[in-house]
Amino acid sequence: MKIIKVRNYEEMSDIAAEYVTTLIKEKPDTVLGLATGSTPIGLYKRLIKDHNENKTSYENIKTFNLDEYIGLDKNNSQSYHYFMHEHLFKNININKKNIYIPNGFAKDINKECIEYNEKLKNNVIHLQILGIGSNGHIGFNEPGTSFSSEVHVVKLDENTRKANSRFFNQINEVPTYSITMGIKNIMEAKQIILLASGNQKANAIYDTIHGEVTENVPASILRTHPNIIVIVDEEASSLV
Ligand code: GLP
Repeated sequence: MKIIKVRNYEEMSDIAAEYVTTLIKEKPDTVLGLATGSTPIGLYKRLIKDHNENKTSYENIKTFNLDEYIGLDKNNSQSYHYFMHEHLFKNININKKNIYIPNGFAKDINKECIEYNEKLKNNVIHLQILGIGSNGHIGFNEPGTSFSSEVHVVKLDENTRKANSRFFNQINEVPTYSITMGIKNIMEAKQIILLASGNQKANAIYDTIHGEVTENVPASILRTHPNIIVIVDEEASSLV
């Protein structure tokens, strides 16, 4: 586990963007695993800036997103489909057919899990971007999720719903269920970059780096990944 401590959110985003753009330039058919939440927004801004200024091309890049809420259609402004479109995809030259996000509005959600899992099996993710929940969740894999889990439906923790309610008008609008890559899917990525910024992530980062590897802290399994970089700002690494 390589740990890079930086001063703040801006530096964290700069370094993450440097890794991603370097990889894309070297390997124009990179398969990226992408995350939502406020943490990667600065990274996505920098990817867009680099695309505009340096013409880095996404024509042959494929992306797989970690997760999606169940019950929100793609055009709902709180869906992760919408988030990705607004914060990244509409601003780069990615081919729509190369974008994969679980469909949380599928009629048969179990079938959707199986199909998304199959797609992941048929594609190796070269670089997975991850954020972390304040309870140590990755994707939407809440504490207690099996390390051998694949794509599955999750009942969200009340804490996660509360934390994510800042994007909604009120907490009862936050969906109760989501579909997420499992921990096994995440660990299959060739390389992982975990990003964390802010005080509210300090405990989760401490547990991830120094705590026991336990299913009670989903991110703790990342310590066993052969190629993981953790980029943390001063606040998030204050206990490390
Ligand atoms: C959500 C997402 C996670 C994300 C986490 C942290 O629950 N499913 O992928 O890492 O929130 O979000 P933020 O970056 O906004 O703190």
